[in-house]
Amino acid sequence: MTLINSLQDTVTLHNGIKMPIFGLGVYKVDDGKTVVESVKTAINHGYRSIDTASFYDNEIGVGQAIKESDIAREDIFVTSKVWNDEQGYESTLQAFERSLKKLDLEYLDLYLIHWPIKDTYKETWRALEKLYTDGRVRAIGVSNFNVNQLQDLLADCNIKPVINQVEFHPHLTQVELRNLCKQENIQLEAWSPLKRGRLLEEPTILKIAKQYQKSAAQVILRWDLQSQVITIPKSITKERIIENADIFDFSLTDEDMESINQLNRNDRSGKDPAIYE
Ligand SMILES: NC(=O)c1ccc[n+]([C@@H]2O[C@H](COP(=O)([O-])OP(=O)(O)OC[C@H]3O[C@@H](n4cnc5c(N)ncnc54)[C@H](OP(=O)(O)O)[C@@H]3O)[C@@H](O)[C@H]2O)c1
Repeated sequence: MTLINSLQDTVTLHNGIKMPIFGLGVYKVDDGKTVVESVKTAINHGYRSIDTASFYDNEIGVGQAIKESDIAREDIFVTSKVWNDEQGYESTLQAFERSLKKLDLEYLDLYLIHWPIKDTYKETWRALEKLYTDGRVRAIGVSNFNVNQLQDLLADCNIKPVINQVEFHPHLTQVELRNLCKQENIQLEAWSPLKRGRLLEEPTILKIAKQYQKSAAQVILRWDLQSQVITIPKSITKERIIENADIFDFSLTDEDMESINQLNRNDRSGKDPAIYE
């Protein structure tokens, strides 16, 4: 990730595919009007990447919004994920078809294993490899794989994941996992970058925000990008969707970056993937 000058900057994944460094997450966004409006607002304000999942139950609305936008399908990067009870070889192939049908798309840009379900993730991965070699998806990756799970998969796969999408924010900086991903050329992507809104009163972040006349959310999202991590904040609020993307007119100094790094306390808002080991 070199350029971080605009919302539409991309990172080149290890298979050569370009993925926007910034996108909209739609977890817990109701299908129908809410998700359609949120995605359309985001696209109208320059977002070019949408992160959904079969578990979010809003793929229909995401697809509708993409169709109703003025942007060509190939200019929008669409991610979905296979859910835990859909895992296994055949059932993943079927889950992929269901997602594609709901999204009403001909291909996905990125398909991820949502969680590393112990007895099935290798079979699930083989299904993703097939979907990739068959040209149904432009890139395949994982989500919520910790160091052990990622090493286990890497030791036994034909195609290496391009992405690991994990919980990542100033209270959970994933140092060991980031090092492994860097070494393996696997791009890290942050979910819950704002810790679901629970980091917005953090004094260190507020102090930095004041210096740049930015919001706490904007400082955190800028920190993600300067940390070489793709970020996908969720919002259904028009002003926040716009605010979150307005992070390309300032740069954090090395000192700012370090003070935010120091906030790490290995504290999660979601499940610890180790429960699946
Ligand atoms: N792979 C996985 O297992 C996994 C797990 C969780 C999430 N994700 C992905 O990551 C995305 C983001 O994570 P997330 O949705 O958990 O949490 P998040 O993006 O950290 O936070 C979203 C929350 O913050 C609020 N918010 C957003 N921008 C704000 C701003 N500028 N000021 C104040 N509040 C703001 C939102 O409120 P409003 O919407 O009301 O504006 C919402 O309540 C998800 O939507 C999903 O796509 C993936």
